Amino acid sequence: VGHWGRMLRALLSGLGWRGGIWGCTFSSQQPHLPPARMLSATELVSHWTVVFEKRGIPEARESSEYIVAHVLGAKTFQSLRPGLWTQPLTPWQLQYVQELSSYRLQRMPVQYILGEWDFQGLSLKMAPPVFIPRPETEELVEWVLEEVTQGPRVVGAQGGPFILEVGCGSGAISLSLLSRLPQSRVIAVDKGEAAICLAHENAQRLRLQDRIRIIPFDVTLDGSWAHLLPWGPVDLVVSNPPYVFHRDMEKLAPEILSYEDPLALDGGEEGMDIITHILALAPRLLKDSGSIFLEVDPRHPELVGSWLQSQPDLSLDLVAVRRDFCGRPRFLHIRRCGPQHGCPVDAWPGPQPARVPG
Ligand SMILES: C[S@@+](CC[C@H](N)C(=O)[O-])C[C@H]1O[C@@H](n2cnc3c(N)ncnc32)[C@H](O)[C@@H]1O
Repeated sequence: VGHWGRMLRALLSGLGWRGGIWGCTFSSQQPHLPPARMLSATELVSHWTVVFEKRGIPEARESSEYIVAHVLGAKTFQSLRPGLWTQPLTPWQLQYVQELSSYRLQRMPVQYILGEWDFQGLSLKMAPPVFIPRPETEELVEWVLEEVTQGPRVVGAQGGPFILEVGCGSGAISLSLLSRLPQSRVIAVDKGEAAICLAHENAQRLRLQDRIRIIPFDVTLDGSWAHLLPWGPVDLVVSNPPYVFHRDMEKLAPEILSYEDPLALDGGEEGMDIITHILALAPRLLKDSGSIFLEVDPRHPELVGSWLQSQPDLSLDLVAVRRDFCGRPRFLHIRRCGPQHGCPVDAWPGPQPARVPG
């Protein structure tokens, strides 16, 4: 298909021709058209970097490099054949760069503009309002992988493990774990319809659909855990839940506030609303000594530790806290320390229920 095909597809069906909140017509951006002599990739990147900087767009150079590289069929500007840096772009390519840049001027995240993004070496489709996976979540995945491959500290390491992800979004965590753990199987749940659809699409795209079940599911609904019982007990629960303190929501960047689903971010007053529901659900579904891995706010290790102490019936211990690449305590390993009381049998890989019961 090549970049022309991709370009046409995107122009005809993709990012901008629907109007509404994405609406930004080509003609409205005429003042930002580069002068006719600026035709090479390098010149275009410089032109759009200046335009973005003048308009206060964050990561101006990175944004323009990604856009120009995408139009030329590459993932990054640095990975373009050096010959392409100085080669004149065709009028179509120029127009496509113009079009995509106009979305960036409206603060659309570059991941949505390009329509795909890499996570743990996997290329995932991205579409608003489904949460864009963040680099720190790759550290959560690495930690899970370390614990699984290091052996008995995580149950089921040899035969799997069998994993439940709560709030799968685009499927980034589940799919990257599956791609690195060839014996593993995943139940991925999310409340958002758009997230469920995108996770399905990404699973197909990566040919991992046979080892993942993606289920619409709201962890806050009373008795919701019973809906997952037929899938059997799991070795691990993993989640990057909505954990932003409600009062911090308004401080988020316009890119986030205008394009990403607030339900993917807002964790309530202390960011704990969904976390506590996951922790209440997990003992019902985890095998004995099963583990929970969570990404959280730096204030949460203490809050979660205290909350768990106030809930001894859950039989969950906070066993480790890990810092992110900025040194902030952001990841929790919680282990089940009592007998399992929820799932009667391991139902997978038997026949899949025709629909989620309930
Ligand atoms: C921070 S995003 C994480 C998405 C993905 N796991 C990632 O790391 O890129 C949180 C996800 O939780 C989902 N979510 C929010 N509330 C939920 C609920 N009550 N039950 C299930 N999923 C929920 C959101 O739709 C969103 O996809």
